[in-house]
Amino acid sequence: MAGPAPAAHENWSSRLAFMFAAIGSAVGLGNIWKFPYEAGEGGGGAFVLIYLAFVFGIGVPVMIAELSLGRRGKMSPPNAVRSVAKQEGRSNLWSIAGWSGVIGAFLVLSFYSVIAGLTLSYMVDSFSGSIDTLDASNSADYFGSITGNFPLLLLWHAIFMGLTIAVVARGIHGGLEKAVTWLMPALFAILILLVTYAMAVGDAASTFTFLFQPDFSKVTLETVIQALGQAFFSLSLALGSIMAYGAYVPRDVSLPKSAFIIAGADTAVAILAGLAIFPIVFQYGLEPGAGPGLVFITLPVAFAQMPGGILVGGAFFLLLAIAALTSAISLLEPIVAWLEEHRGINRVKSAIGGGIAIFILGIGSVLSFNYWADVTFLRGTVLDNLDFLTNNIIMPLGGLLVAVFVGWRMKRISIRDELAPKSEFGFALWLFMLRYVCPLALG
Ligand code: PHE
Repeated sequence: MAGPAPAAHENWSSRLAFMFAAIGSAVGLGNIWKFPYEAGEGGGGAFVLIYLAFVFGIGVPVMIAELSLGRRGKMSPPNAVRSVAKQEGRSNLWSIAGWSGVIGAFLVLSFYSVIAGLTLSYMVDSFSGSIDTLDASNSADYFGSITGNFPLLLLWHAIFMGLTIAVVARGIHGGLEKAVTWLMPALFAILILLVTYAMAVGDAASTFTFLFQPDFSKVTLETVIQALGQAFFSLSLALGSIMAYGAYVPRDVSLPKSAFIIAGADTAVAILAGLAIFPIVFQYGLEPGAGPGLVFITLPVAFAQMPGGILVGGAFFLLLAIAALTSAISLLEPIVAWLEEHRGINRVKSAIGGGIAIFILGIGSVLSFNYWADVTFLRGTVLDNLDFLTNNIIMPLGGLLVAVFVGWRMKRISIRDELAPKSEFGFALWLFMLRYVCPLALG
């Protein structure tokens, strides 16, 4: 598997550019539609506490490890891990820790793009006013009519993949950095506006109870596992993205500090998303329904009733689309970096080729909503299976391998060299979490 000598990659042009890109990766559909609902259902404040413990106790240590591997290996995830393993005198097989990321990213992006396409469709329909008439009786039917429309869903999936390819094809400086320096401030601005609006016109009291009042009786083992999975997905771990971005981080940037900022921003956005959504849901007496239902069925009903709902609704779906796009580019990047290095294919061709392959796989997920809705095997539809495979197998496995490799197989001196720890206590604590706690939790 020894490919041609890989070309050295570019670096982020500033620390801020890296922060925007990494936070853009972390903040995605997971924050805006999944977290608020899971928190509300999983015991409010109790879930939030467990989630925070996982984010900072397990997610951050693994993120530091991934960033270190990326920066030390200076290549796409599989080659970065292989190169570090070689420096450390370890087996080539450790590159599986990078492979699982690239393969996982490929699979996840294939269905992530389909959902993101749906948000684009809703965004256009919101701004054009065509869904301003939805009410509780027909919103679900409308959702069904969109997802049941195979060519329409396919078209939006294609448009979203096209946007993602267009950004990644332009490279780190001309593509990713440029996109995130525009999109991330826009995302924060829209989010703050929506939270302010929701708090002003909506039912803030019920929202605080739902999201924050701890109810430990609702916490089951399943909730705990869900919180861990959500923490991993939300932080973009074990799918190659963070490791690939780590490869472009200049030497003088502190990785531990960066990881804390990324995790903090990601968590803040998740909570803010809840504060934007639930006041409106409760104000209009709607049920905080699950996952896609909350965002695509329940919220449009609220938008249709509220004054200025066309703009608020449009802004909300724009927010989702931006969040999804900055995550999608981070899923395509590890794949493109690998194609570039390993096959010597230039970036434009790699982005187009990789993107088209992902688009084609995504057709399976598009079909899962309509023609193949009844075609189920193993865990359900094609989409259900991809979701299960990535969430329950590839991600925990990838995270475990990274933790074990960095925690047990790298020399202390190399890790110290990479992290330049300022606090001995912090370093020891990180290593302890990585060696004992992370493998246990992920295993
Ligand atoms: N973190 C993103 C979200 O919350 C999803 C993602 C996972 C993006 C892994 C990149 C890598 O939606």
